[in-house]
Amino acid sequence: MTTLIKVDPLNPNEGILRKAAQTIKEGGVVAFPTETVYGLGADCFNISAVLKIFQIKNRPADNPLIIHIYDKKQLEELVEGDIEQNSYVMDVFWPGPVTFIFRKKANVPREVTGGLETVAIRMPSHPVAQVFLRLSGTPVAAPSANLSGKPSPTRAEHVIADLYGSVDVIIDGGETPLGLESTIVDLSRDYPVLLRPGPATIEEIKKIVPNLYIPDFLLKKENEPVKPLAPGMAYRHYAPDKPLILVINEKKLDEVLSKHPDSPIICPEEMSDRFYGRKTIIMGKLREPFTIAQNLFHVLREVDSLNAESVIVIGLEPQGILFSVMNRLKKAASEVID
Ligand code: TXA
Ligand code: MG
Repeated sequence: MTTLIKVDPLNPNEGILRKAAQTIKEGGVVAFPTETVYGLGADCFNISAVLKIFQIKNRPADNPLIIHIYDKKQLEELVEGDIEQNSYVMDVFWPGPVTFIFRKKANVPREVTGGLETVAIRMPSHPVAQVFLRLSGTPVAAPSANLSGKPSPTRAEHVIADLYGSVDVIIDGGETPLGLESTIVDLSRDYPVLLRPGPATIEEIKKIVPNLYIPDFLLKKENEPVKPLAPGMAYRHYAPDKPLILVINEKKLDEVLSKHPDSPIICPEEMSDRFYGRKTIIMGKLREPFTIAQNLFHVLREVDSLNAESVIVIGLEPQGILFSVMNRLKKAASEVID
């Protein structure tokens, strides 16, 4: 049975969230909002609770989970080695949409880290996540609260559609403000490496971490990653059941349009005039690119409900947050035209 709890996202009622925290303490699984996407959480030290997450999502066991904390003190039981050394970087980006990879302490279960010697940790800034994590009293391991392969959930409705009936509690905290999963930076190596682009842009991270290395697989145009460093990046993601054609090369757009005369087009608001006479789905505004990130996964979920053979999505200049948007679109697309 699933209990649905509704809270004010900005000023959540602690009494209500205590019930969800109690579920964590008792080894249950709870879906909760963060500023990026909804997470599906369990006590990271309770192995049977952690295994439930994998089973509910149908997630491969070698795809590790992110551990969520509300206070840097919690790093002591999770991270091996000198925490102070990375303190400044953490203080700049936490709480917020950045996950850091560290070497793990022996007591972090291998079920959480997919057998790796490293652990991913994030301190969310969403008020509901913060209160929920504090009341839970233990670090909470949580992947995105979607079925494996589906777009990450940015609204409680998405979580309900995927997981109602199989999780203990769903906390409805409204729409998640950023809409893309956290930026992942690996601090466990000789030099810092970007593993997943996200709401904190490469430009922002580089200001604080100038020697950040951007691996080839993030720069390639195709949707096939070369050699993904984050295990999860190896799987096809966010994929609608319908063919999704991503057009990066503008010169080939007319050709694609005539080949698929009835396909709806996902595009920014500023471009919708160009496709007069066709069904368009607005993904947000180019002049406010964060709206595109915010809407992206909702739009991808809508694709399957459209009465069409395939859907065309217009590629965007991969700058700032739109670099992260394009990373997700390439993984969602069944065909990339470049
Ligand atoms: O914004 C987010 O990060 C959301 C919210 C809920 O916090 N979580 C999320 O989790 O997106 P998930 O499981 O969907 O994605 C986590 C990614 C996966 O690609 C996984 O392979 C990678 O992080 N990851 C986890 N631990 C890792 C590690 N030790 N080394 C490298 N990659 C790791
Ligand atoms: Mg995920």
